[in-house]
Amino acid sequence: MLALDRLIAEFDRALRTVSNIAEASRVSPAEALAEAELNEHDRRHAAALMRVNHVGEVCAQALYQGQSLTARDAHARQALERAAREEEDHLAWSAQRIEELGGRPSLLNPIWYAGSFAMGVAAGALGDKWNLAFLAETERQVEEHLAGHLGKLPEADAKTRTLVDSMRADEARHRETAIRLGAADMPRPVRTAMRFAARVMTTVAYRV
Ligand SMILES: [Fe+2]
Ligand SMILES: [Fe+2]
Repeated sequence: MLALDRLIAEFDRALRTVSNIAEASRVSPAEALAEAELNEHDRRHAAALMRVNHVGEVCAQALYQGQSLTARDAHARQALERAAREEEDHLAWSAQRIEELGGRPSLLNPIWYAGSFAMGVAAGALGDKWNLAFLAETERQVEEHLAGHLGKLPEADAKTRTLVDSMRADEARHRETAIRLGAADMPRPVRTAMRFAARVMTTVAYRV
């Protein structure tokens, strides 16, 4: 029965993620800032970049979910649940920002979710230290990616920029948590494969 409850809870979380129903537990860091006057091109560009970031957060939900199903160590599990809650904030914040910019989330979110979930479970099957290695490397790449977006977002769009920068700071902490909990060093070929997969995802998500 317990396993069934768990399965239902996880399925519910998957459905909420892909159908764009996420609730933030913290106020968005962009909330207090005024909306900038953006031209059509800049607004669309910012919305597309936020769609990419939102896909990243959908993938994070799936990864942390896969992780929570396979993590063996109770202490690690607690720390990772805290990070997962912050990821849910990111998910809700980026969805809200896409809407404010007049964009829409990726149509392929169920596919991104399923792919990441499968990878999370596969990493989990290899044991905690590889599971954590996968998580740490993902967080590192997301962090770099968000830093890259700060160079691409319109200068005037303080709301989106503040949001992205604050998410970047959270991701850095998540990476440190995974390392502190005993993440193995990810072999270079795996890192390269992950980078390649991320590039495909970001390129497609910018458009679709
Ligand atoms: Fe995140
Ligand atoms: Fe993160």
